[in-house]
Parts: sequence; C-alpha cells; structure tokens
Amino acid sequence: MEAGRRGNPLALIPRLSRPVYRGAEASLYPLDWFGVPALAKVREPKPYRHPSLDARLRAARTINEARAMAAALHAGVPVPMLLHVDPYTATLVMERLRGARTLAELVEEEPGAARSYVEQLGRYAARLHQSSIAHGDLTTSNALVDERGRLYLIDFGLATLKPGPRDRAVDLHLFLRSLESTHPEHVEEMYEAFLRGYSAEAGEEAARRLVEGVREIRLMGRYREERRTAWGGGEA
Ligand SMILES: Nc1ncnc2c1ncn2[C@@H]1O[C@H](COP(=O)(O)OP(=O)(O)OP(=O)(O)O)[C@@H](O)[C@H]1O
Ligand SMILES: [Mg+2]
Repeated sequence: MEAGRRGNPLALIPRLSRPVYRGAEASLYPLDWFGVPALAKVREPKPYRHPSLDARLRAARTINEARAMAAALHAGVPVPMLLHVDPYTATLVMERLRGARTLAELVEEEPGAARSYVEQLGRYAARLHQSSIAHGDLTTSNALVDERGRLYLIDFGLATLKPGPRDRAVDLHLFLRSLESTHPEHVEEMYEAFLRGYSAEAGEEAARRLVEGVREIRLMGRYREERRTAWGGGEA
C-alpha cells in the first residue's frame, strides 16, 4: 500500500483542500476532475487500527463501494457517475450532484414531495435486491435528490454482492430505523410508501418476505453488531 501512495497525486487532496463533509468513515472533498465537477470520497486512516489492517480495510471498502456502484447502475439504479478509484489512497472520485439534498432533509422540509421519492427508493431497493445487491446502509441520508429532482443512491461501502435474505431484510430494517430516529412523525406514511414501491417492482410476495425478515431481525436485535464484527471495524 505504501508504495502505491508514494508520489500519488490523490494523496494530496486532503492536504490541499477542505472537506465539504466529514462523516464517520470518510471525508468528501470538492474538486474539478478534468472539467467535471466532482467529489473525492477519501477514507482517511484511523489511528486506532493497526496500520496495515487499516490500509487493507479502507482499500477493500473503497473497491467494494466502486463495484457496488457499477452493479447498481446495471440494475437500473441511479448513482453518481464514478470517475476514478484508487485503493492506495482509499479514494473514490465521483460526479458531484448539483444542488443535492438528502432525502432526510426532504422528509423534514417537504414530506408530501418526499413520499413519492421514498416510493421510488423502494423501487430502487427492489431492483438492487433482484440484481443480487444489498445496499448495507440504506437510510434517508444515503439517498440524494439533485436540483433537477432526480433521486440517486449513494454510500455503497457496506454493500454486498452476494446477499442472503437477511442482508436484504437489513436494508429495510436500517431504512425503518432511520425513519424512526430522524423522522418519527412520518414513520408510517414513509414506510408504507417504501413498501408500495418495493411491491410494485418485486411483487407482493417479495415485499412480504422482506417485512417478515425485518420482524425477525428486530426480535433478535443483533443486526448491526454482526456487520461490525464481519468487517472487523469499530465504527458503523
Ligand atoms: N456525489 C455526490 N454529490 C453531491 N453530494 C454528495 C455526493 N456524495 C455524497 N454527497 C454528500 O456527502 C454526504 C456523505 O456522503 P457518504 O454518505 O457517501 O459518506 P459517508 O462518509 O459514508 O457518510 P456517513 O459515514 O455519514 O454515512 C452525503 O450525505 C451528501 O450530502
Ligand atoms: Mg452516508
């Protein structure tokens, strides 16, 4: 990993610019990618992890995110255009969506309009699942609406391309949990909208199985810890 970083211009991004967003896992830096307005999503080193394990983990998640974004696009789910992937600096460069707002913001500010986006999100989740992709962190913060009113899915670092029924149910579970924690007054209406979209795309039986899977996860109450352990990381 060290060799690949030496002389690598992407390693300069965090030193030369300020992030527009600093999340638990990554920071996002604005840049101009050969004329295309872009964002570099950089998974920066975590000092509490062993350095070589840390480098491998960040590289793996970066590659995983890029693969899953490409797979999502094939499945008919809009994602920001991927422009460059560099595992050595754990950097993913993608198109910067103009005027992007998160679905979380939209649910708060315009719940009426948000409902149809949530239904669309349900359709997109079904398309992912039908194409053997589970998103892994499907929340209202990981769906963006651009200035032209188009919905995109982002943040595929925890996606899996060989999902079992449980991984698919985790998607709905996390979505429901994001509604409960961020938009308690809209839970029912948004949950119904999501399932309406999901059923329209994948059929009622698939939606019913998903809901049953969520019920089981909630009974067990162990979903997230398992994913953390599987990834060997400490954070979500
Ligand atoms: N392509 C994009 N265009 C415009 N804004 C974006 C784009 N990708 C990400 N963002 C903004 O950056 C935020 C963080 O992106 P993302 O969820 O991919 O990072 P993250 O570090 O995994 O976040 P977290 O750890 O908080 O889930 C998004 O909520 C969104 O506001
Ligand atoms: Mg996110």
